[in-house]
Amino acid sequence: MSHVRKKMVAGNWKMNGNRALLEQFKQHLIVPDNTDVVLCPPAVYLANAVGSHYKVGAQNISEHEKGAHTGDISCSMLNDLAVHYVILGHSERRQDHNESNELVAQKVKCALNAGLTPIFCIGEPLEVRESGEVFAFVQAQIDAVVNICGNEFFEKAVIAYEPIWAIGTGKTASPEQAQEVHAFIRTHLSKTNSDAQKMQILYGGSVNADNAAELFAQADIDGGLIGGASLKVDDFNIICQAAG
Ligand code: PGA
Repeated sequence: MSHVRKKMVAGNWKMNGNRALLEQFKQHLIVPDNTDVVLCPPAVYLANAVGSHYKVGAQNISEHEKGAHTGDISCSMLNDLAVHYVILGHSERRQDHNESNELVAQKVKCALNAGLTPIFCIGEPLEVRESGEVFAFVQAQIDAVVNICGNEFFEKAVIAYEPIWAIGTGKTASPEQAQEVHAFIRTHLSKTNSDAQKMQILYGGSVNADNAAELFAQADIDGGLIGGASLKVDDFNIICQAAG
């Protein structure tokens, strides 16, 4: 049975942007009626980003509830600001901060317990793609979360498939390559929970104003997680329109 899933476009500013850029987005970002548009600026701008016509997400949280964790930000702080989403397991955090599958799973659990919606990122490096082990690799990333959060975690989460070789490289996965992995993810999760048909699965990795429409037209691609192209409001608007 096929389900109509709402599209989503999330902009991951990473460690980019400033207050002036945020003002531009507040004024000029167009949110299509039938699309969730989520802006994820650096943490210091979150308080300034909320309360507008788009949704807001953080780029990370601590796996701890509170306490002596200098520099970290808790789920309850995000709730306090009415930030509703959080990107977790992004490959840059897995690489730069040694975040393991298990740590990412703990963070997903923390976010779910706090009522935040995780945008849970998975995706393989180039050598895994070349060795033909993509499905096993992303399945291990997903199963780490299922083990800790249960097989219903995705009822309140969004998955973002982001092949590492496509992030920031200008080398996007072809629509067929992305669709193949998205279909695998949905089928894998459907085996234990039929609600996987309703889950939003985003594609990320060099999505831009020119290639978004073709990617989003694939059966199991429910929108995108956008890095570089989310820093220009005109380009980001075109991508949001492509989803709508
Ligand atoms: P990119 O980044 O669009 O710049 O490739 C995507 C991401 O890392 O989320």
